[in-house]
Formats: sequence, C-alpha cells, structure tokens
Amino acid sequence: MQRSVAMVTGASSGFGLLTVVELAKSGYLVIATMRDTRKQEPLLTLAEEQQVRERIQVWSLDVTKRTQIIEIAEKLTETYQRLDVLVNNAGVSIGGFNEEIREEDWRLSMETNFFGVVFLTQAILPLMRQQQSGKIINMSSVGERIAFPGYGPYSSSKFALEGFSESLRLELANYGVDVILIEPGAYQTDIWTKGFTHIENTSPTDSPYQHPMKQVLSVGKLLTKQAGQPIDVAKKIVNISAKRKPRLRYAMGRGSMLAVILTGLLPWRWLEALIRWQLRKK
Ligand SMILES: NC(=O)c1ccc[n+]([C@@H]2O[C@H](COP(=O)([O-])OP(=O)(O)OC[C@H]3O[C@@H](n4cnc5c(N)ncnc54)[C@H](OP(=O)(O)O)[C@@H]3O)[C@@H](O)[C@H]2O)c1
Repeated sequence: MQRSVAMVTGASSGFGLLTVVELAKSGYLVIATMRDTRKQEPLLTLAEEQQVRERIQVWSLDVTKRTQIIEIAEKLTETYQRLDVLVNNAGVSIGGFNEEIREEDWRLSMETNFFGVVFLTQAILPLMRQQQSGKIINMSSVGERIAFPGYGPYSSSKFALEGFSESLRLELANYGVDVILIEPGAYQTDIWTKGFTHIENTSPTDSPYQHPMKQVLSVGKLLTKQAGQPIDVAKKIVNISAKRKPRLRYAMGRGSMLAVILTGLLPWRWLEALIRWQLRKK
C-alpha cells in the first residue's frame, strides 16, 4: 500500500524541520522543501538519528517564486499522484515602525507569508480535490489576535493568511479537504533573532521612533527567552493531521493562550492602554 504523502515548506530550520521528522516518524512519506537545499544537513542528521531518513525527500522551493511552485506541483503529481497533508510553514518576521519600513520589506513579508501560501495551495488543490481528501495546515501566529506595534508587516501578512484560510475552508468543506490554522505564541526558533537583526539593520539611526522601538525589541527579546519548545508544535501538527474533523484554529503556547483570553475578556481600549504604557516605559 502507498504511504500517505505530506509536504512541508521552509523545512531547513525551526518548526518546518521538526515537523518533517515527526510526520516521517508517524509513517508519512515527507517532501521537505527549502529554498536553499545546501541547508538540508541538520534535517537529514536528525532524520538519520530518528531512523526515518528513507521517508524524507528534499526538494527545492522558494515560495516567492511562482514558476518553482508550478514545477513542484507538477513533479508531485507525476511522482506520487497524491498529497495528504500540506504544511504551509515557510515564513519571515519583518518588523520596524510602519512609517519607516521599506517597500521591499513590505513586499517580502506579503510574498513569503501570504502569496507563497496562496499560490502553493492553488497549485496542489486539484490533486486534493480529485482524491476528495487532504489537509492544508497554515502556520499563522498569535500576531493574528493582536497586531503588535513594531510588527506591522508580520501581523498584516498573518491577518491576510487568516482571512484566506477562513474563506478557503468553507469553499472546500464539501470536497473533503480541511483547512487548519496553527496560531503559536513565541517558540524557540531562529525567526525572532533574524527579525530583531533585520529591524536593527533597517531602522533609520535618526528615527523619531527610537524609544518605542527599543521597548518593542526588549519585550520581544524577553518573550523569546521564555518561549516554548518548537517540538510541541511539530507534534501538534502530526496530531492534527490524523484528526477526522480538525477545528479551524489551534492556538498554542503561553503567549497565544494569553492573547486569546485577553482579547476575549478585556475591552479593546484597555489592551491598547496596556501596550501604550509598555511603549512609553523608561
Ligand atoms: N517561532 C515562533 O515563535 C513562531 C510563532 C508564530 C508563528 N511562527 C511561524 O512559524 C513559521 C516557521 O517559522 P520558525 O519559527 O520555524 O522560524 P525559522 O526557523 O526561521 O523558519 C522559517 C523557515 O522559512 C523559510 N523561508 C523563509 N523565506 C522563504 C522562502 N521565500 N521560500 C521558502 N522558505 C522560506 C526559512 O528558510 P531559510 O533557512 O532559507 O531562511 C526557514 O526554513 C513561520 O511562518 C512563522 O511566522 C513562528
């Protein structure tokens, strides 16, 4: 019998890398995609250790490149004729104060975190619709519940992803395909350090937002120190992949649960006051 097939984007590190190995451990044949396949060593080392190397294939995919998306969907159809789980995981964290963020950074954030998901999903949907089954798992964020200052492009891209996923889920409800959103709080992956470095390198030195930006960075750095273990998210994805009727949203981690509770209980005005106080703090 043919194994179930899963595909994960952004598998060179973090959640993506761990999800590939966890899916392989649970029996899937996993196509691990990454934009630079020279970065496959850590994934393959872990896969060897966990004795699942033979269930993993590394394919090249930059999710911002439409031609690569089309080619990979064709290759998948020719090679396996099926896809049971797609994990749209690849992402970048672009921040800064909205007024000062460069056009290329706004576009990079949307191209990676939003359009990459939209176009890859479009490309593999004919396969899932024909087989009348499949799960599309989109990596959103706690940043969907509250758009934090200093992270406009990141939050905007995840808000857009949420709208797309909600709409798509309803469209596919009668075709056997489930659409799921994972909404993690802060977890210990490299995304935040990369994001902080990007902010520090691109914020103007004479910025009028210097003080609040410093606050944003120091809160961010504090949160990453208390962040959760990414393996929990990878295991959750495997668990959701096996569910017959998965929910639309899965909030995960302390930060995310707190955001769900606070946005549900507190008046919006109070939340804003809390954040504004944090930005003004000396
Ligand atoms: N960690 C958290 O606390 C957290 C919280 C909420 C949501 N998330 C989401 O989780 C997802 C994974 O992030 P992570 O935390 O695991 O961070 P990560 O370790 O930085 O992983 C991000 C992955 O995306 C890849 N990527 C970036 N641009 C790409 C592109 N154009 N094409 C293909 N791959 C690309 C990166 O590849 P390179 O190695 O080539 O850069 C890397 O493999 C992201 O969508 C992120 O927004 C993370």
